Amino acid sequence: MQRWFFYLILYFSFPLFAQPLEESQTCRECHPNAYAEWQSSRHAKSDHLLVYGQLLIQNNKENCYPCHQPVYALDLDEYVESSINETSVNCDFCHAVRIEPKEQTYRLVADNVKFGPIKDAIAYAHQCDYKELYTTAEFCMTCHDYNHLPLKQHFSSVYDEWKESRFYEQGVVCQDCHMPARVGKAATLGKIRDTIHSHHFYNGESEEFLHQCAELQLTAVRAGENINIELLITNRSVGHKLPSGSPLRMVILQVEVQNEQLQPLWRNWYKDPLAEDDNAVFGKRFYSADNRLVLPWEESDRVIDKRLIPDSTVTLNYFIQDSTASWIEAKLLYHILPPPYENRIITGRSTDYPPRQINVVKEKIEVIAE
Ligand code: HEC
Ligand code: HEC
Ligand code: HEC
Ligand code: HEC
Ligand code: HEC
Repeated sequence: MQRWFFYLILYFSFPLFAQPLEESQTCRECHPNAYAEWQSSRHAKSDHLLVYGQLLIQNNKENCYPCHQPVYALDLDEYVESSINETSVNCDFCHAVRIEPKEQTYRLVADNVKFGPIKDAIAYAHQCDYKELYTTAEFCMTCHDYNHLPLKQHFSSVYDEWKESRFYEQGVVCQDCHMPARVGKAATLGKIRDTIHSHHFYNGESEEFLHQCAELQLTAVRAGENINIELLITNRSVGHKLPSGSPLRMVILQVEVQNEQLQPLWRNWYKDPLAEDDNAVFGKRFYSADNRLVLPWEESDRVIDKRLIPDSTVTLNYFIQDSTASWIEAKLLYHILPPPYENRIITGRSTDYPPRQINVVKEKIEVIAE
């Protein structure tokens, strides 16, 4: 298997008359849709995320800039003078970069060429150059594979997880899910094309995207006082483990038993899902030598990877006794900043990042003859 060892080697070539990188604002006039979508995406915020600022202070910035604030990675006086304020993963950082797969390096080409997926694009504002790479998973791996990096902040192996899934065999790449195609114009002055791509870079903040990415099946039967609840959770349409990406994410199942009037009688957890119902928590967990749950980037002794592998099903059983119970409601929720980390991260509270709904099922308890 060909592995990518890319230590990002960002090069800046300044030939005569070359034009430095531009701010995304410059592209807006002609690419309004891509601009609006990109602006709502995490790429536009890669320089001020959840805990990034906090961690940046504690780290050697040089280790973080290449992906999060690529502009600074260039470290060029010319650049600072060129009035660009944008330090996030902006348009030019994806479209003015030339990736050399053979050399396993990335070069920033500071002339007026925009690389992209369209073979016959013509523009006056800039040159266009077709590169097949934009339609492949390797393009995303420039920044999304950090297995090789000695960074405690990152444990994601989204690319390897994808390679082990059926999506890789079927040729379904990152862009197919995260940048879905539609009919439209690539630029205001361009022609209508069969496929242009969303630049929202859908993530776990978008319920529309999460919805139905996992299946949830519920059966509940009663015999006298005894109620047996069975839940099947299947990672159906995620091209890698669920959850993936940032090691902070957790997917947590919430089960509630209700009476005939839909009032809650019992829940599988109230405050701390890990302490109350460990099996209902899917995520990576990091434990210290004395068995405390620590933040992913803190010193840890043991890692438990309890995430849902593509196409796998997990079964959870609950047994309760209550003669007044009538309904069961189960919610599969995606937590950006999960309850176990509440109050541990200075720059974010979990109430600022409410959980998103993946799937909900509600069933009346079926009574079987005793
Ligand atoms: C994280 C990298 C990334 C960023 C940031 C990004 N793009 Fe793209 N862009 C892509 C990829 C990848 C494709 C090709 C998708 C495919 O073909 O599957 C693409 C395609 C395009 C296309 C061709 C038409 C289309 O939709 O396929 C245009 C035009 C474009 N981008 C403009 C922009 C502009 C303008 C911005 C900033 C507002 C921007 N891009 C930001 C990665 C990026
Ligand atoms: C004055 C208008 C204008 C501006 C400003 C502009 N573009 Fe374009 N761009 C176009 C047109 C027109 C096309 C061709 C569209 C087509 O053929 O469908 C295009 C095509 C592209 C493509 C597709 C290239 C390919 O071969 O796939 C990318 C990527 C792109 N632009 C990025 C950018 C970025 C990034 C910026 C800002 C730094 C920008 N453009 C600024 C008009 C513009
Ligand atoms: C130049 C580096 C770079 C490239 C290339 C890149 N990304 Fe990203 N991406 C980032 C950074 C940095 C973040 C972190 C921002 C965050 O988490 O808020 C990010 C965040 C994301 C997120 C949101 C993650 C979250 O935690 O919410 C998604 C989804 C994503 N990228 C998908 C893609 C896809 C798909 C591609 C390929 C088409 C791609 N990216 C290419 C740097 C990049
Ligand atoms: C078949 C569809 C599919 C494919 C293919 C796919 N993803 Fe995802 N991706 C998802 C879904 C759905 C989620 C949200 C659930 C989760 O976090 O697992 C997601 C989540 C993510 C996240 C985390 C978002 C967050 O909010 O934290 C990142 C980063 C990401 N994907 C990157 C990639 C990259 C890089 C590739 C290609 C190697 C890829 N994905 C391939 C569907 C897909
Ligand atoms: C090789 C590229 C790369 C480097 C280098 C890098 N990051 Fe990241 N980082 C990413 C990507 C891509 C994401 C999006 C997470 C994902 O995969 O979903 C991310 C996500 C994060 C997150 C998670 C935010 C969230 O929403 O959960 C934090 C925090 C973070 N990075 C901090 C850092 C710090 C601090 C450094 C330097 C010590 C650093 N990163 C270096 C690529 C990188």
